[in-house]
Amino acid sequence: MVKQKAQSNDEPALTGPVEAIVTLPSPFYECDDAVIYCGDAFELLPLIEAHACITDPPYGINYKSGHNTGYVNKREGWDDWRRDSNFAPIAGDDKPFDPSPLLRFDRVAICGANFFASRLPDSRCWITWDKREDSGSDRQSDCEFIWTNFPKPSRVFRHLWRGLCRRGEENVAKAAKQHPHQKPVALMRWLMEYGEAGPVVVDPFMGSGSTLLAARDSGLKSIGIELSEEYCEAAARRLRNRSRSLLSG
Ligand SMILES: C[S@@+](CC[C@H](N)C(=O)[O-])C[C@H]1O[C@@H](n2cnc3c(N)ncnc32)[C@H](O)[C@@H]1O
Repeated sequence: MVKQKAQSNDEPALTGPVEAIVTLPSPFYECDDAVIYCGDAFELLPLIEAHACITDPPYGINYKSGHNTGYVNKREGWDDWRRDSNFAPIAGDDKPFDPSPLLRFDRVAICGANFFASRLPDSRCWITWDKREDSGSDRQSDCEFIWTNFPKPSRVFRHLWRGLCRRGEENVAKAAKQHPHQKPVALMRWLMEYGEAGPVVVDPFMGSGSTLLAARDSGLKSIGIELSEEYCEAAARRLRNRSRSLLSG
């Protein structure tokens, strides 16, 4: 599932302009159905072979984390939302996101794509993730738009995700939040199933590994890339704690 560039001592010295020679680092974590690389997706992704790229990149919006834990003084605005000091700002979120390296895969789904839609091709198949499920609107968006290249009709996926109210396995009574932009495993699993992704899925902006868990549930192999060691560790921990899918045998 990966292309390792050969490095030989017999290779002639470069005489022209110096070329960057990038090789995959040793995996941060590896098991029989998942590999995690801690590094820069823009450098490592060209070395990866996969059928599908299902991902949730930094949106380029300078996201402020922790607003979902409650607020201190509503009248004085955003800065008074109580921050969750466990979460550092998201790497890469302070500059416009370039989705072009993701587009070479057969099946691609990119979350938050409304923030950089002008840099994506037209598509028949946008997925709307309805996070509210009829519970009314608040200051946050009711939904999120996911660009895909799936040769299928656009669809709505409904799954409640509203601050502390999260449906399913990420419900606060069951699990602590691992990442300020954590996605429901159910959403990532639905994208893989609807997009007929497989047998190998890559998430180059893996965060806490929701895509890798979804791939395991679907009986697929997965590759995650993430800059932050802390989130690599969170993803590895979640994989270690998750049982194997019946599909993967
Ligand atoms: C929106 S978050 C993904 C969250 C994930 N969906 C989850 O459920 O936890 C995007 C992630 O991309 C990572 N990131 C940003 N720039 C990166 C880069 N150049 N290479 C690898 N990871 C990067 C950030 O550290 C962040 O964890």
